[in-house]
Amino acid sequence: MQKLVRCAIVPVAGLGTRLLPATKSQPKEMLPVARKPIVQYVAEELVANGIEQILFITGRGKTSIENHFDYDPELARLLQAANKQELVEQLHAVELNAKFFYTRQRMQRGLGDAVLCGENFAGEEPFVVALGDSIIGLNASSRAVSRMAELFVARRASCVLAVEEVPPEETAHYGIVEPAEPDGDVFRVANLVEKPPPARAPSNLAIAGRYIFSPLIFDMIRRVQPDARGEIQLTDAIQLMCEEGRRVLALKLPPGEKRYDIGNFPSYFETFVEFALADPDYGPGLRAALERMLVRMPPRS
Ligand code: UTP
Repeated sequence: MQKLVRCAIVPVAGLGTRLLPATKSQPKEMLPVARKPIVQYVAEELVANGIEQILFITGRGKTSIENHFDYDPELARLLQAANKQELVEQLHAVELNAKFFYTRQRMQRGLGDAVLCGENFAGEEPFVVALGDSIIGLNASSRAVSRMAELFVARRASCVLAVEEVPPEETAHYGIVEPAEPDGDVFRVANLVEKPPPARAPSNLAIAGRYIFSPLIFDMIRRVQPDARGEIQLTDAIQLMCEEGRRVLALKLPPGEKRYDIGNFPSYFETFVEFALADPDYGPGLRAALERMLVRMPPRS
């Protein structure tokens, strides 16, 4: 059977101001989490979920992302000549069985605008959107995108969102969904609210950085008015789909397929430590070092 969802759009054009000064001259999506840059985990997850073509929506100052996925013959030659076979293998590990494309978002006018840059790439086919600053599952082990694609086809959806539970007091940081159906791991979405304060939040289920869309989303994005900061929000375009009665579904991520958002320092620090602790070679040593550190540095009262 021909695969229906083969393409993914990965927006990586954001300015990453919450991670300044780390992101002054390098993309946040290239910051390392343990051994690899974040964007490598995102691409590995997509390929493991059957995606064959990936379009990165980049911007000024993001060329290192393109360089990362490119072959570097000089480096390969140097490592070969130095007989560092193990490192040559590390270089090969970056190569993935997918075609990579790049285009630029000229102005950082929000996630909706970034996705719109992928319209010609997507054509008439449904496609995945995967945020370039979020990893799903420890070491990108999640197969949620495959389950979302199955759901998209089986339920003839216009959109499938990955959602995760967040602490109720933190809803103001996320796009929050209002389920149209009682509890369950898969449900229809009635409405979406962008960053509601806890008192106005319809649930504590936040959109978790993975989406599948029919190409209909592009018309919806074009109809969205910019917000107070001049940004076109993808959430607003999905809300238009809900208002038109299109089938917008949500799939709840299980605890083992947690979303690691590296767009802010607390979450980035935690993600780095968790992935480094899971490293088969260096994790045990890090654990021992952390235990020593915690004894030496008790919490400040
Ligand atoms: P964020 O909402 O985290 O925005 O983007 P940001 O601009 O990168 O970060 P801050 O708020 O300044 O710290 C979520 C994802 O959408 C992309 C980002 O690169 C990130 O992967 N994005 C965001 C774009 O591609 N274009 C935009 O205009 C905004």
